[in-house]
Amino acid sequence: MRWNAAALAPLLLWTFQSLAQAAGLEAFQRPQTVPFPEDAPFNREIATLGKMLFFDPRLSGGQNISCSSCHNPSFGWEVPVRKAMGAAGTPVRRHAPTILNAAWITPLFWDGRAASLEEQAAGPITAPDEMNATFEGITERLSAVQDYRIWFERLFPGQGIRKESVLTALATYERTIVSGVASFDRWVEGDETAVSDAAKRGFALFTGKANCASCHTGWMFTDNQMHDIGLQTSDLGGGGLVPPDPDLNFRFKTPGLRNIVLRAPYMHDGSKGSLEEVIRHYAAGGSADIERTAEVEGFSLNEGDTEDLIAFLATLTDTGTNTPTPILPAN
Ligand code: HEC
Ligand code: HEC
Repeated sequence: MRWNAAALAPLLLWTFQSLAQAAGLEAFQRPQTVPFPEDAPFNREIATLGKMLFFDPRLSGGQNISCSSCHNPSFGWEVPVRKAMGAAGTPVRRHAPTILNAAWITPLFWDGRAASLEEQAAGPITAPDEMNATFEGITERLSAVQDYRIWFERLFPGQGIRKESVLTALATYERTIVSGVASFDRWVEGDETAVSDAAKRGFALFTGKANCASCHTGWMFTDNQMHDIGLQTSDLGGGGLVPPDPDLNFRFKTPGLRNIVLRAPYMHDGSKGSLEEVIRHYAAGGSADIERTAEVEGFSLNEGDTEDLIAFLATLTDTGTNTPTPILPAN
């Protein structure tokens, strides 16, 4: 009998599936497509326009700051400071989260107050401590740029440059920011040599004793839910919205963990400087000086556990995706 690929495929698939199931890996498989809403389907040119806007400081009142100032591709689409500086030169209220895999993040913001990327993007543009602009001001300013006028007229016929088209373009671009294949994904696909033994032990801890996967689940490593992990903070998170909901006090949205090693410092307040600190926090069952009962129980850290967990987290890093910065249309 001659082996051919068609005959082998079911066998390989079966072997892969049983290996993946044995390790509990199938729940972490990458999706095949990016979810785009029906009323804002993928459009390459609109995404390109949105990218220019994302990098363009003309979207801020003083033309001194762009979305990319705080969501920088070099640092996992964040910035390596606890609180980024806004247009007015004062630090913003919370640590900038990543926008990597934004198409799958819902709700948005640490406190979950925005339902869509379109709605979200309006926030920083007009917030006085962030970009400090008005839509009237920026649509007027962008309309003075001939290239933008041409782009918008062609891609949003009859609409041109207005709040809605600016937000659609930004959101369409953000949905294209997807983390590329990391060594973890190759392991999920069946390549046993893709990750180290330490990383495999770390994954077993992550899904086992350390219980991280009860919240950091799926290919992006988030349940997109609001949880209280016992940080020492005066920020009420989801409970601080209007009207206040005390059941959401100190609850924040679980962030995804793709490219996490590039994204220090960590948490909504940037209070954890390293992954060692993050792991110590969880192992201790949250901060010792809080009076409430958080959702983390703590676990014993044996010799080597911290290194193994970090080795696993590092396998979620994709360094192969290059993000060239756009040339912006001249005034
Ligand atoms: C001055 C820094 C700064 C600028 C400029 C800025 N952001 Fe943000 N961004 C933040 C911070 C801080 C948060 C979290 C705020 C919160 O949760 O209350 C955030 C949250 C987000 C989120 C939600 C991510 C999540 O996981 O929920 C998205 C998406 C986002 N920003 C996109 C943008 C876009 C688009 C622009 C430009 C129009 C922009 N940001 C400009 C700092 C900034
Ligand atoms: C009860 C749910 C829950 C569990 C269990 C949990 N996390 Fe988290 N994780 C969260 C939430 C919610 C945040 C954001 C908290 C905040 O900023 O206030 C977070 C934040 C993080 C961050 C920082 C991400 C960023 O963008 O700053 C890392 C890293 C992390 N968790 C890793 C882990 C590891 C490792 C474990 C297991 C030891 C774990 N988590 C267990 C819910 C959880």
